[in-house]
Amino acid sequence: MFTYINQQSQIPENATLIILSKEMSQNALQNFSDDEKNYMEVQFVRHKNRSFYFNKLSHQLFLEIAEVKENHEHFIESLRLIADRLVNCLQQAKVQEVYVQAYDFDKDEILAFAEGLVLANYSFVAYKTDKEKSARYLEIIQLVSNNIKQADLDELNIVTEATLTARTLVNQPVNYLNAVGLAEEIKTMAEDVGAKVEILNKSKIEALKMGGLLAVNQGSIDPPTFSIVEYKPENAVNKKPLVFVGKGVVYDTGGLNIKTGEFMNNMKSDMGGAAAAVSSIYAIAKAKLPLYVIALIPATDNRPGQVAYASGDVITMFDGQTVEVINTDAEGRMILADALAYAKKFDPMLVIDLATLTGSAVRAIGHLGVVAMGANSDSFMEQLKLSGERTSERIVEFPFWDEYAEELKSEIADMIHLGGAEGGAITAGKFLEKFTDYPYIHLDIAGPAFTTKRINYRGIGGTGVGVRLLFDFAKSLV
Ligand code: BES
Ligand code: ZN
Ligand code: ZN
Repeated sequence: MFTYINQQSQIPENATLIILSKEMSQNALQNFSDDEKNYMEVQFVRHKNRSFYFNKLSHQLFLEIAEVKENHEHFIESLRLIADRLVNCLQQAKVQEVYVQAYDFDKDEILAFAEGLVLANYSFVAYKTDKEKSARYLEIIQLVSNNIKQADLDELNIVTEATLTARTLVNQPVNYLNAVGLAEEIKTMAEDVGAKVEILNKSKIEALKMGGLLAVNQGSIDPPTFSIVEYKPENAVNKKPLVFVGKGVVYDTGGLNIKTGEFMNNMKSDMGGAAAAVSSIYAIAKAKLPLYVIALIPATDNRPGQVAYASGDVITMFDGQTVEVINTDAEGRMILADALAYAKKFDPMLVIDLATLTGSAVRAIGHLGVVAMGANSDSFMEQLKLSGERTSERIVEFPFWDEYAEELKSEIADMIHLGGAEGGAITAGKFLEKFTDYPYIHLDIAGPAFTTKRINYRGIGGTGVGVRLLFDFAKSLV
């Protein structure tokens, strides 16, 4: 279903071809006529034009002279962006198969370019009735290079597929994907890669007294779910698991503190953390990384209703701590707190949660990066930042000083769940931290998880942010 990346040793005649080169060299120009060569050389020298396209009717020829950058990660990202631009042309020309020749590029560079092609080609057309019109699929990418191995391609196919799967989960509206539906998708994905999966239903969640998840679910007619995926290969390098926790609010109306104006638009994306956590463990298991990983997904919608939880309520959470609710729209932290407390039983080496948690994170850095906070996890945070640079899912570390937690004092319960107007992303993180006792990283992806305007190869709608980041991070641990 998604674009597939393959390797070829030869380019057939009349194949649609992208020639990627770092220089306007004879090597790069060998497929072109003398007229074409002259034209491009003049354009390149006089007008600094680096991008050429010839429609040969039977096929298309592209030449891209990529501008090498001093910073390797920046260069890699520029290749993804070139790929994004080319996908637009390929789709217009209805190209299904494209060859890529990139002789003077190393493995990382070629793979990044192919990754950009695949990610840019995605579109969510599940509910278009005219499939013919909406289909714009580049089906197969043939890489011609001696610098890549089949294993590299297998891995890239796995990670791109997982990223696009995360996008689709986010793009599904709540009337097609509620908490039960999300759990079913998680089960299918886990079983597909041979991971263990357990779905806790409402009565099990009640028996476990997950007060935060149950409180948020009170206003809903759909039951909550709590999904546990475990991937534990025999050759795992870690005894204690790496645990991902994903916010699975399948729709966030705000609850009784209902969202007004345009703030409710696109709140189907409030399970972007869940989508990323699940798709990451899916990719890790499918690639058979020797790493013990667990994913925990608390899921529900957040709605007003006759018996919806209300501000002022005091909720006893899974771990027994009591929380005074200040605003029912701060629901993500209520369901995550239970999952984080549940994670203690695995004695984790590190827990990373992903959540579309706060408007405060969006206001601080917009859509371009992931807001991160960490406790007892300095070296992991440094590694995660490197993964962020490599994948261009960049990490911005926020302060996590204990003073921020002072805002969470309650007169009547152990804590309130919401700080003041300032530093809201951080006080949200501080609230979550109260439910942890292990090395912990909190990722607020409220900005980058969803976009209403197309952002290059990240697409429009769900972006799948977090999957490439966590896969790269997992790889760096093994
Ligand atoms: N899901 C939202 C956060 C969000 C905002 C995600 C924008 C994506 C884009 C979260 O549950 C929320 O509603 N947060 C509120 C809390 C506030 C009302 C106390 C916020 O941050 O504005
Ligand atoms: Zn909310
Ligand atoms: Zn929310």
